[in-house]
Amino acid sequence: MQIPYDSPWVQVFGRLHIVVLHFPIALVAVAALLVLWSMIRRQNEDAPRQFSPGLWLVGIAAVSAALAAVTGWVFAGAEYADTKGSLGLHRWLGVASAVLVVAAYVAGITASKVSSTRASRLYIAIVLLAAPLVGFTGHVGGGLVHGKDFVFQPLLQAQRVEEPAKQQPPTQPLDQLGFEEEADVIPEPPLLTGPSVEIEEPAEPIPAMTVLFEDDVMPILQDSCVSCHREGKSRGRVRLDDLEHVLQTVERGKPDESLLVYPIELPESDPDSMPLDRPSLPDEQIAIIRAWVASLEAE
Ligand code: HEC
Repeated sequence: MQIPYDSPWVQVFGRLHIVVLHFPIALVAVAALLVLWSMIRRQNEDAPRQFSPGLWLVGIAAVSAALAAVTGWVFAGAEYADTKGSLGLHRWLGVASAVLVVAAYVAGITASKVSSTRASRLYIAIVLLAAPLVGFTGHVGGGLVHGKDFVFQPLLQAQRVEEPAKQQPPTQPLDQLGFEEEADVIPEPPLLTGPSVEIEEPAEPIPAMTVLFEDDVMPILQDSCVSCHREGKSRGRVRLDDLEHVLQTVERGKPDESLLVYPIELPESDPDSMPLDRPSLPDEQIAIIRAWVASLEAE
């Protein structure tokens, strides 16, 4: 079936995922707690047998999980170019979660209708399985939005500051980019030191050694762009998380014609200005990106 992703109605439907997804996560967790609680109670006292503890919660969870899976599927298709990787995992975990929660509900209904101990055990088993699965699905989904390790990032960063950078990232082979080898040797490219950088007319490729992708360009993209332009979250169908994808956004040697350069030079008030909804890049950084694009030799 072909989903009309371009329709605004379809896009709004997909975005409902952000609202709906919270229901199954909370409801299944609470249902699992109720199941555990009823198991404990039955061991201690002679509590009356409950065949499907928390069934009504699981009922709402089943509907919302199915809705979360369908809206999520559409959301991913409409807004993300790359539905492999973590996003693909999240998609299929979502489908599996929805199937499991619906199955739990069916087992639970059966158990309480016909007072079947077997169906009740099945219900309990599925609920206890579904809770961690739904939780994990949500965890992977959260990683897509906020980046992996989002929750613990402040701790990880604090740790990194304490033990200062031991490993310098390996420099990328530069020959393919048209840089000279000696580029590595120069510790501080002159372009980075001066406050005013004049490169308005990149008619000719700027001589080799000016700007290095890994050392100069990538850190800027990493800080300001990659949160929205990476595998699994390629907003505007643009990825800026590695050289291969960045090269797809440039016209070698022609910054003025490069998709990468255009939106970073727009005034901040322009709705197309990048980074989106954030202050524009400092002039030096824009100059570095420009200079890098200008330095690329045409293929
Ligand atoms: C907060 C999220 C966010 C950040 C940060 C961000 N972008 Fe974007 N970017 C978007 C979105 C969303 C779109 C799609 C806009 C659209 O289609 O209207 C987009 C689109 C683009 C496009 C394609 C424009 C086009 O006309 O097709 C480029 C190029 C781009 N961004 C570059 C960058 C660069 C470079 C940075 C960092 C300096 C950056 N973005 C930072 C969200 C972001």
